[in-house]
Amino acid sequence: MTTNRRKFLRTAGAGLAAATLPMSMVRLSFADQTDDFTFAYISDAHIQHIKGNEFVRNWDRGLIRAVAEANLLEPKPDFVVFGGDLAQLGTKEELDHGADILSALKYRTYTVMGEHDYYLDLGEYWSALFGPQSYSFDHKGVHFIVLNSILTYDEWTFDRWPTAEQRMNEMAGLDNPNGSPFMVGSKQLKWLKKDLGKVGNDTPVVVFSHSPLQKIYKGWNFWTEEAEQIQSLLKPFKSANVIYGHVHQIQYNQIENIAFTSVMATAWPWPYPATYAQAESYLPVLTVPMNRADPFNERDATGWQFVNMNTGRTDLNFNLYDNTNRTVAFNHETGRPEDVSYQPESARIPPQRHY
Ligand SMILES: [Fe+2]
Ligand SMILES: [Fe+2]
Repeated sequence: MTTNRRKFLRTAGAGLAAATLPMSMVRLSFADQTDDFTFAYISDAHIQHIKGNEFVRNWDRGLIRAVAEANLLEPKPDFVVFGGDLAQLGTKEELDHGADILSALKYRTYTVMGEHDYYLDLGEYWSALFGPQSYSFDHKGVHFIVLNSILTYDEWTFDRWPTAEQRMNEMAGLDNPNGSPFMVGSKQLKWLKKDLGKVGNDTPVVVFSHSPLQKIYKGWNFWTEEAEQIQSLLKPFKSANVIYGHVHQIQYNQIENIAFTSVMATAWPWPYPATYAQAESYLPVLTVPMNRADPFNERDATGWQFVNMNTGRTDLNFNLYDNTNRTVAFNHETGRPEDVSYQPESARIPPQRHY
């Protein structure tokens, strides 16, 4: 174990004095909520090993930047979540390098499993570094749940592929007919039911998953096979919130009592499915695509976010590396998350063509 990784494990839970962040922190409707707090969310770094000590530079730079900026937040976040896809192809080199970078975080850090971390060795090395793949914890009156939502059918995982590398590559591809839809699996569903059974219906619940716990677009696995079952387990709660990575773009949605919000990647942005291959998309109508001059620009839609927990809801402040910051906050009047500065079509950066 490297010194940095030892440090990562040791400093989990420790806080340090933070300097002033060189960007304005938008505080929304805090009113008299004494339990309001913030946490930072970094996701989808996709650290990719080339050879020796070489890694794809842009992608490890993206993670290094997010860690540095999170360390400068003022007020300090109570904790940081890393939302999965730390590695690109799940190798020890990639996971080690990612863990080294994350070890610079000065806050307690919770980690979520992504499919790029998992499908080489089925999460073994990731677990040695970061611990359990699903768990829950309570913080200032909020119940948080972390799920491994990137599992799939046993036959696909265990019987189909001659090598672990091929299995990893097949799951890493988009529009790949050899892929398989993401699942949480029956064991985790049972655990989730039991875990939620111990929580009062008035307690705000926040679920961190890598895949959306809703069905958006199957070709890119913006999808969780048991979405309806998970949603029905969350149904009794007055305030249920899901924050997910994987999609590398801003999405938000409300399904009955559950607010859904995605987080940005530090590696690269995906275009919206509807703009790509004329794919059928179930993106909710209230989603407002961010201003993006070019959906393939590798920096105009990468970044990280801090989250205000406000009256049991999650307000996401997206810090985009090379684009205007955005805030998607829960609107208590309309009962759904909304972009606080709606950008009408006419106000958006016109798309560019490169072909
Ligand atoms: Fe990803
Ligand atoms: Fe992913």
